[in-house]
Formats: sequence, structure tokens, C-alpha cells
Amino acid sequence: MKIFLDTANVEQVKLAASLGVLDGVTTNPSLIAKEGKDFKKTVLEMCKYASNVSAQVTATDFEGMKKQGLEYAKWHKNIVVKVPMTTEGLKAVSFFASKKIRTNVTLVFSVPQAILAAKAGATMISPFIGRLDDIGQDGMQLISDILDVWANYDFKTEVLVASVRHPMHVVEAARLGAHICTIPFDVFDKLPKHPLTDSGVKKFNEDWEKASKKK
Ligand code: E4P
Repeated sequence: MKIFLDTANVEQVKLAASLGVLDGVTTNPSLIAKEGKDFKKTVLEMCKYASNVSAQVTATDFEGMKKQGLEYAKWHKNIVVKVPMTTEGLKAVSFFASKKIRTNVTLVFSVPQAILAAKAGATMISPFIGRLDDIGQDGMQLISDILDVWANYDFKTEVLVASVRHPMHVVEAARLGAHICTIPFDVFDKLPKHPLTDSGVKKFNEDWEKASKKK
């Protein structure tokens, strides 16, 4: 499973990249607004560390999405144009596919939406599992259902698990065989840690010290 960071913070991207585990980054307008930095500069900086950086269009009509997406795609080859799952968005995805511009269809909440996005030529789709959990629906069930459908066909579109809230979402995404999981930094930060690893390292070092003193 590819690991993406769900952030607009360049320092977090740099750190994850330095661990050798980062396959990409997803940004969205809310994350960009939270950091308060220039959108283009942020995305271009991230492209130094990841070969796959989603930059979201804010237009809601086809012409506007087309204009923004064409501009983003010119900025850097690592940019993936992120498009919302609307009928105008589908038109835009199909247009970008015809121009060989990679797309990430965001705000996917159902299997029919996933199928249409794949047929329109999306490079990846982002089902938002945490937001489904938030309203009392099982987000992971949506991933499982989409992957069941994918097993019947030859869709090239990758399933990117988004709106992740905790490490078990990452585990379940991998167990189901999702292609990608995008992870907020606070969750990513928990993944390498285990108290038994920490106490194990401490004990090994203490034993080593004791043995060295005996010599
Ligand atoms: C995905 O690309 C989105 O940026 C993201 O996962 C949104 O998740 P949220 O529900 O935490 O805002």
C-alpha cells in the first residue's frame, strides 16, 4: 500500500520523506488555508519530496476546473489535479484524462460515484471514510465494497483511502488491499511507535552498559 501524507505543511512532508516511506501528498483547500501559506509555493515545495502531490481545483464548473487544472499541471510533473466528485467534476476528469493529466477524484461517498469516476478516467479516487464514520455509517465498508467491484473489472483507477482518523483505519485499509492511504500527520506520527519497542531498546542499552562496566 502506498503511503501519502494528508497535509499542507511542508515540514511534515520533509520529515516523512526522510524516513523513506512517503509515496505522495494530498492537500485540500481547508488544509492550505490552515497553514496560511501561498498555495503554488507550498505545492511546488512539496513536489521536491514527493512524486505525487494532489492540488485541488476550487472552481465548481467545468470551464473553471479545466482552467485551474491545466494551470496546475503546468507547474510541475508531480502534480495531480484533485477534482470534486460532481457531474462537472466528471466532465473535467474525462477532459484531463484525454490530455494525460493525472487526477484524484475527491469527496467520494458511494460505490456508484466510485464507478463513474473510474469510467471517466480518474487516476485515483478518494473515498472519505472518517466523514462517513462521523455520521454513523461504516466508512471502511465503502472501501471494501469498492474493492469488491474493482475485483470484477480491470479498472486502472487506484483506491485512495482518505479522511483517516486513527491508526486502525490504516491497518484496515492495508488489510482490504487499498492501493493508497492518505494519513494526517498526527496519525502518521503514531505509526512507528510501540511502548515495547521503547522499553526493549532501553533494556538492551542498560544490559550493554552493565556488561561493559564488568570488563
Ligand atoms: C483527502 O484527500 C482529504 O484531504 C482528506 O482526507 C480530508 O479528510 P478530513 O475528513 O479529515 O477533512
